[in-house]
Amino acid sequence: MKVLFVCLGNICRSPTAEGVFRRMLEQAGMAEAVQIDSCGVSEWHIGKAPDARAQQAALRRGIDLSGLRARQLSEQDFHDFDYVLGMDQDNLRAMRDLKPANSQAHVGLLLDFAGTPGAEVPDPYYGGDEGFENVLNMIEAASAGLIRHLKRER
Ligand code: 4NP
Repeated sequence: MKVLFVCLGNICRSPTAEGVFRRMLEQAGMAEAVQIDSCGVSEWHIGKAPDARAQQAALRRGIDLSGLRARQLSEQDFHDFDYVLGMDQDNLRAMRDLKPANSQAHVGLLLDFAGTPGAEVPDPYYGGDEGFENVLNMIEAASAGLIRHLKRER
């Protein structure tokens, strides 16, 4: 199974989701069964490491994001991944615009798996550190739900 996390810049929310989800997959013994990646709908930060604030917030929970590099969402991703999960409604609109008609991928929001369908992981880029803590808390809750979902699907 392959899961792709999508946000706007691929330097705050979706790399955080990638790092959090990777650790939770390892803890669940599912790291071999599920491949993951993250990307952004924009080209703004291609090649960059995650935002320093996102890296610091994740490190406080023992998660190292320093090796990740931003890339942009492509049409091919909708063939390569089974789940393409956005952080907010703007991401979701851009994803649906790009999704090829013959793609079988599940395209939705990450927080659908937190039991709060339609809810968004808010963009923390222009806010303070508490925004990054909030992002981590929301992503942890949704990741637990996503792991339960993937276990049932297996
Ligand atoms: P992300 O956050 O989508 O969670 O990576 C953002 C990063 C950069 C910008 C906006 C949001 N920006 O405007 O450059």
